[in-house]
Amino acid sequence: MTAEQARVREALEQLAAAARRASASAHAPFSRMRVGAALRTVDGEVHHGCNVESASYGLTQCAERNALGTAITAGMAPGGADMLVIYLPGNTPLPPCGACRQVMLELLAPGAIVVACCDTEAIRSWSVDELLPDAFRGP
Ligand code: THU
Repeated sequence: MTAEQARVREALEQLAAAARRASASAHAPFSRMRVGAALRTVDGEVHHGCNVESASYGLTQCAERNALGTAITAGMAPGGADMLVIYLPGNTPLPPCGACRQVMLELLAPGAIVVACCDTEAIRSWSVDELLPDAFRGP
């Protein structure tokens, strides 16, 4: 394993654990999908979020965007995180929704790694750019 591979593996393990902890806080009485997300800033800080559902379903907030909002609130500059991990209990990793892909593209670093994990060895990963081809990037 190269030093870079070891660095990525360590970050992944740290963020998977943080995302799993965040999922325990999820407010998901409607879908019962308790999603957690955690990201690492280029300064090594970890921020996390969970999904928060509303009885007015469309107001539901996703875990990824809550994690990103928390990071921005804490002072992270846009483009200041190079890895985000999503955790969903069960045996199927959760690909992020379209809204989260847009916001991740705007707030993560170009080329940042997005990983989805669960309770098995199953794992999926993408670069943030490939999650949203030909993306809208503002006026
Ligand atoms: N959800 C997320 O937190 N992230 C996603 O990328 C997809 C969906 C949440 C929203 C809702 O609470 C539940 O999962 C079912 O859609």
